[in-house]
Amino acid sequence: MKPESAVPVVALDGPAGAGKGTVGRALALRLGWHYLDSGALYRIAALAALRAALDKTQTAAIAALIPGLEIEFRGGEAALDGKDVSRAIRGEGVGAVASAIAAEPAVREALVARQRAFRRPPGLVADGRDMGTVVFADAVLKIFLTASPGERARRRYKQLKEQGIDVTLPRLERELRRRDAQDAGRKVAPLKMAGDAVMLDTDRHAASWAVEQIVARLAEAAKRGGLSMDLEP
Ligand code: DC
Repeated sequence: MKPESAVPVVALDGPAGAGKGTVGRALALRLGWHYLDSGALYRIAALAALRAALDKTQTAAIAALIPGLEIEFRGGEAALDGKDVSRAIRGEGVGAVASAIAAEPAVREALVARQRAFRRPPGLVADGRDMGTVVFADAVLKIFLTASPGERARRRYKQLKEQGIDVTLPRLERELRRRDAQDAGRKVAPLKMAGDAVMLDTDRHAASWAVEQIVARLAEAAKRGGLSMDLEP
């Protein structure tokens, strides 16, 4: 079997609502690779903390909970201890707690091993904030996906509405800005573009455009690195 480090990773980082989920899932499907929504792991940890009646400041206790959580992803669904939590983790309330506990080194450390376990052949598309800078620093390709705050809030609003989650656009925009500042301003693994990442601005483009951009860059990276990858659609 190939060593884990020989399994190629595309790191897809960027702020909330930049389209990482849509682009990441479509890219993984296109390549036939695995997909990791690392934000969902932070959200599940936040939900587990809330359910255990832990305050977001009780970070040691939250970190201690993480290794014992039974987390599973099937298709588009996330399950915690055997129960579907896909909807429960999507609200901005859980998102805010996720962002708060994500600033804690003990929590991040507890989640790193769980994230790396997703690196399995033939490859992994990993979406998050620190995929290219920390968790998969050896990624074959690093993409930083971005869009303007207004556009990101509008996309998130549409997504949440479709899921039947009640929000207002101005409130969502405020919460996104607060979460961006918290994610980018923290000391450990802050949201920042890796030095060797490619920035893609999706403000005026559909997700399919970003997917094609990434596939083209992946083909170039594979050629440069002498990797053999089947990138045909
Ligand atoms: O991607 P998301 O919005 O579902 O992520 C929820 C929160 O989790 C986000 O505000 C910050 C945190 N997070 C992180 O710190 N590192 C990651 N790799 C992914 C998410």
